[in-house]
Amino acid sequence: MIDSTLFEAEDAGFLEGVLDAHLASGESRCLVAIDGERIVGVVYARPEEATDRVWDLTMIGVRAGLQGTGVGRALMGEVERELVERGQRLLLVRTSGTDRFEGTRAFYARLGYDEVARIADYWTDGDDLVVFSRVLAPTSGLRETSRSHSVASSGARSG
Ligand SMILES: CC(C)(COP(=O)(O)OP(=O)(O)OC[C@H]1O[C@@H](n2cnc3c(N)ncnc32)[C@H](O)[C@@H]1OP(=O)(O)O)[C@@H](O)C(=O)NCCC(=O)NCCS
Repeated sequence: MIDSTLFEAEDAGFLEGVLDAHLASGESRCLVAIDGERIVGVVYARPEEATDRVWDLTMIGVRAGLQGTGVGRALMGEVERELVERGQRLLLVRTSGTDRFEGTRAFYARLGYDEVARIADYWTDGDDLVVFSRVLAPTSGLRETSRSHSVASSGARSG
């Protein structure tokens, strides 16, 4: 996530703690994209508490030099495929409304996510929460892509 430029190096401890806690819960999914022996991207999703099969796409990041080459699409496709296979209903993504995240919002829109909510000044003053959503219909995640990346699953839940 640090190589994706989303987080600073000093956030490494925080990220590790968040991932450890969620993976220990046994419910979440963490997938990595691999190019040769290198991890080039990661996506992490977890179920929303007290909902009927709603999931939160908590983090996605692709190595800075490889952004725009199809890795993010491959990761999203795989996480969607897994959730559809498990009969899950809805996938939500929370991002930022700032200019810095314009490309990120375009990415989700391009992948068929709908912007369903905005809360002004949520993250901090001048930084809105933008929520994208996708219904996990059985065909979701089976989009064709001209580029291919292998995606490995390392979720804590077996099966
Ligand atoms: C957002 C991110 C995960 C997207 O992954 P990616 O590998 O760069 O995206 P892809 O190459 O798979 O792109 C998939 C589609 O989205 C479009 N897209 C991706 N980035 C885009 C951008 N900045 N502007 C417009 N469209 C974009 C691509 O054109 C592509 O469309 P196509 O397949 O029809 O040609 C990646 O750029 C990243 O890690 N960004 C920094 C971290 C971040 O913002 N994470 C999300 C926090 S909420």
